[in-house]
Amino acid sequence: MASNIVTLAQIPTLTQLYRGRLLSPSQQPGSNSPSKALNDILSHIQYDITRLQVDGIVNAANQWLQGGGGVDGAIHHAAGSQLLAECRTLDGCNTGDAKITNGYNLPAAKVIHAVGPIYEERYHLTLERLLRSCYRRSLQLAVENNLRSVAFSAISTGVYGYPNLEAAQAVLDEVGKFLRKDDNASKFDRIIFCSFMPADVEAYQRFLPFYFPPMPEDIGNANTSPETKADNGW
Ligand code: APR
Repeated sequence: MASNIVTLAQIPTLTQLYRGRLLSPSQQPGSNSPSKALNDILSHIQYDITRLQVDGIVNAANQWLQGGGGVDGAIHHAAGSQLLAECRTLDGCNTGDAKITNGYNLPAAKVIHAVGPIYEERYHLTLERLLRSCYRRSLQLAVENNLRSVAFSAISTGVYGYPNLEAAQAVLDEVGKFLRKDDNASKFDRIIFCSFMPADVEAYQRFLPFYFPPMPEDIGNANTSPETKADNGW
């Protein structure tokens, strides 16, 4: 159903969400200063990641890379059987790591298969390090493969049980650290946090403004011109 494929131009950036009053500044002062460069490349949407026409989508896979349920199942279903055939050549993937394949029948060119941790409260410090590693490794693979637009599913927050609020904070902190280092932000046109469950939507809407605060002109600007409104119904 090509009709529900979404292109990058249809996905608003944080700057556009702030200007369109679709994302509000954080009530808690954060430690990060506002960055136009970051707010112009970051996006958050609630959508089916298999419908995004971007350079790469990040799958929440398992260590066997044999497909499964959740977003893994949706991606394999949409990509077709060639995806599983290529996954079988990869000899699995360790938790906290990621591997890349082609996207086949997906609108996305590539799939980055990241393996998140299975959550257990008593090991949360170790598991947070593994979750952070999934995003860092996925971004490193994106840079190595010249993927300039990447969409992340919310790794580990489904079957693997990672609490949504804790996951969102770790993810946004880790992605921010990566982008603020080695001029990495200039290597991307867009990084999209693609939520699916309402709990993840709420977590990202709450913590995006904390880790990526708005530029003053994006919240004081009363003249929100039509193109800054996210007019694609998000
Ligand atoms: N598009 C975007 N996000 C989706 C989609 C979709 N079509 N379907 C599910 N999600 C979201 C879930 O709502 C959750 O927020 O992906 C996130 C990750 O959830 P899971 O897919 O359950 O993955 P995870 O929690 O990392 O568990 C991985 O589940 O499916 C198996 O093979 C997979 O064994 C692995 C385990």
